[in-house]
Amino acid sequence: MGKTIALVVAAGSGRRAGGGTPKQYRRIGGKAVLRWAVEPFLAHERIDAVRIVIGEGQENLAAEALAGLDVDAFIAGGRERAISVSNGLAALPSDTGHVLIHDAARPFCPPAVIDRLLDALGRHEGAVPVLPAADTLTRKARDGLLGETVDRDEIFRVQTPQAFVLETLAHACEDWRAGPATDEAAYLRARHIPVALVEGDPMLEKLTYESDLRRADTMLSERLSPRVGFGFDVHAFADGGELWLGGIRVPHDKGLKGHSDADVALHAVTDAILGALAAGDIGDHFPPSGPRWRGASSSLFVEHARALVEQAGGRIDHVDVTIICEAPKIGPHRDSIRARLAALLRLPPARINIKATTTERLGFTGRGEGIAAQAVATLSLPEDR
Ligand code: CTP
Ligand code: MG
Repeated sequence: MGKTIALVVAAGSGRRAGGGTPKQYRRIGGKAVLRWAVEPFLAHERIDAVRIVIGEGQENLAAEALAGLDVDAFIAGGRERAISVSNGLAALPSDTGHVLIHDAARPFCPPAVIDRLLDALGRHEGAVPVLPAADTLTRKARDGLLGETVDRDEIFRVQTPQAFVLETLAHACEDWRAGPATDEAAYLRARHIPVALVEGDPMLEKLTYESDLRRADTMLSERLSPRVGFGFDVHAFADGGELWLGGIRVPHDKGLKGHSDADVALHAVTDAILGALAAGDIGDHFPPSGPRWRGASSSLFVEHARALVEQAGGRIDHVDVTIICEAPKIGPHRDSIRARLAALLRLPPARINIKATTTERLGFTGRGEGIAAQAVATLSLPEDR
């Protein structure tokens, strides 16, 4: 029967939304719009693969937006959406049977819509999701004033994804002469090939303007709930070496022993974030047995944890760190550590707190044998996680 492939077009420049970065790469709910758009297809058991069409110069944006997801190399789009789609169709694997064409600017595709479309493909060569028009509809009269009312029952709003038998769509596109269409169903329609209408979903609304992005972000933040994670770590002093603490090099006569750079504060922060995510601990993600992380900068671990939060559609709200040692004095380095941690977590410094204490010369820290650190991370995560 051939494979079922989702083709997501993300090659637009998002002119109407403004804001510099094209809208499909902007973040809503801590995650790129494109990532939201792609994930429902990757998660759907009836979809075999997802292909993505991007614009010239968008490679880095796309790679960052989709980091860690199982997507193939990107396909280069064109100046019009129709060209982007056509480039995408031409790059599909030869054993593709069905294709679902979807706008990256529609980030929340319910799995049920995908099911309805694929079910309809059993009976028709193409299927589109539609919604009824809720408002009264009118024509504009010649004089620019209110004209005739249009019968609402005859009108539907067409959304994406749109599903097709690839061979049929490819043929219909080939001999299309009327210039690019705004959607693919129009190609079939022009050849009198029946296209099924299935029930769409308000969640599939396209993000077109800046206000649409803001509304989507607000909706997502209302679905987040708070989680708190705690991290603790200890490293012993070595004879000599560099001391890395909170992502900066602190001048001291001793460094800390460890597999990586032994940055005890960043390890505690990483564990706090992983804890709030219920994602195990730093050793699960960066096994100390492997040679790969020998001497590694612990900032990598923090960035990894931050990326996991983003991928979960959540955000880090606050991180509070306590460094426990007799020496060196942390006070003079507090602002630098705070700034460094803020940069690693992509947070304003106001959401980071660095504290330090001694243990009144008691215990191993009191004897100057090593440094301990504790951290608490507060996250907002989607409620269904
Ligand atoms: N698209 C595309 N190639 C183009 C134009 C658009 O792949 N040359 C994609 C967009 O990235 C988007 C979808 O088609 O996912 C729907 O288009 P639209 O909402 O119009 O997005 P933009 O063209 O990016 O926005 P604007 O029209 O405001 O510039
Ligand atoms: Mg456009």
